[in-house]
Amino acid sequence: MGEAGGTTPTRSDTKSFAERAKATVTRRDFLIGAGAGAATAGVVLGGTAVATKAFQPTTTTASTTGTANLSTLPATMRRVELNIDGAKHTVVVDTRESLWETMNFQLGLSNANLGCDRAQCGACAVLVDGRSMNSCTILSARLGRGQQIKTVASLATGPGVAGLHPIQRAYWLEGGFQCGICTRGFIMSTFALLTANPKPDTAQISEALSGNICRCGEYAKIFKAVNTAAAEMRGEKVTYRATPVVVEVQKVATTSPTAAAASKDFEFATPLDTIEQLEPFATAVKKTDGIIDVSGSERQITVKWDPAKLDEAKVRALLAAAGHGVK
Ligand code: FES
Ligand code: FES
Repeated sequence: MGEAGGTTPTRSDTKSFAERAKATVTRRDFLIGAGAGAATAGVVLGGTAVATKAFQPTTTTASTTGTANLSTLPATMRRVELNIDGAKHTVVVDTRESLWETMNFQLGLSNANLGCDRAQCGACAVLVDGRSMNSCTILSARLGRGQQIKTVASLATGPGVAGLHPIQRAYWLEGGFQCGICTRGFIMSTFALLTANPKPDTAQISEALSGNICRCGEYAKIFKAVNTAAAEMRGEKVTYRATPVVVEVQKVATTSPTAAAASKDFEFATPLDTIEQLEPFATAVKKTDGIIDVSGSERQITVKWDPAKLDEAKVRALLAAAGHGVK
């Protein structure tokens, strides 16, 4: 539970606050003080922010209250114990402070991305008692009653792709992202969905992810990733196109005497800077006799060719000569 007191910050507290306020007054702070008028909002909020920082104890891991006199907190502040990814953090927060702000500015936990900072994009989503919530909007002062806060940092169990949670692995290997700003939020909303519903249909996935926006428009791959992750979490065998198994299958297909065309997905040795670079590159490659089709993304390229005229080695050499070698 939170607690509040009624004293005024000391002079030294105020100095400390003013110094920190310059760097920490945000658009949120400004909006909170809008009722006081634009000219005074920064000053009012600055004072509040100073008090917040001056009274906060230093707590970064499973911890207890710090050295500050917590029985004399201003009325605008609360001492709360946040349970984040299984670790308890006792912090003193301003009653208007978001969970995202507390995690980042007080605890140094950069486990959620900040997108809109106004509850519209879902980039900052974390789970609170299993429900996906926007950490930019939920108030830390209300999270001290034993709620279980879960972030993307708690999902992986080991190094590399093998150590990722199935949901993370699916987003990674299915390419369910581009810039990645939205990805942590999508992953946490997906986690909430698949925990409650192991086999969602498309409408249910759409509903569960409706609070998350991907400005890069990778929805098709995001939905594919959700379905793949769901299958793996149900214990089914899943195969990613980039795995050696599938590549081997494709090799067989390309050497089959009955195959009309050969096709293979290649991963660029160095990803393109932007997706816009793909089209002129693909156009140039298509001019080579024997190339039937070229498509892809900034990370991979799919080439279809006539096996009577080209083979994989020649295609690889062609791609390298055109300016983008593949692995
Ligand atoms: S940053 Fe929280 S919803 Fe956009
Ligand atoms: S990957 Fe860029 S916003 Fe989703």
